[in-house]
Amino acid sequence: MVRVCIGRRSEPSQVDSSRPLTVEGASGERLLDLLDEVASPISFSCRSATCGSCRVTVERGAELLEAPRASERETLLALGGGPATRLACQVRVSGATGEVHLTPFAPT
Ligand code: FES
Repeated sequence: MVRVCIGRRSEPSQVDSSRPLTVEGASGERLLDLLDEVASPISFSCRSATCGSCRVTVERGAELLEAPRASERETLLALGGGPATRLACQVRVSGATGEVHLTPFAPT
């Protein structure tokens, strides 16, 4: 099982890690489905790699997530963001065990 810890941002540049939400998922599960299980601070709109509202920053554990597919790469390229930026609606868990830490996207 992979534990996903979702931090909150008290300010765009500051992560409040004192009260992360956590949810566990197995390999192949969509992050979108896992975040729907908890009151996630990540917002979703299209859920199809179009709007970019679900952007997250993967702070740790990126190796436990599948690599971005073409549609996700294209949207991220158009919207900007660093290599740690992902679309939560497109990400699938790929690792066996470990922790992924992510926060809502904040432009730098
Ligand atoms: S919800 Fe629109 S890109 Fe993920």
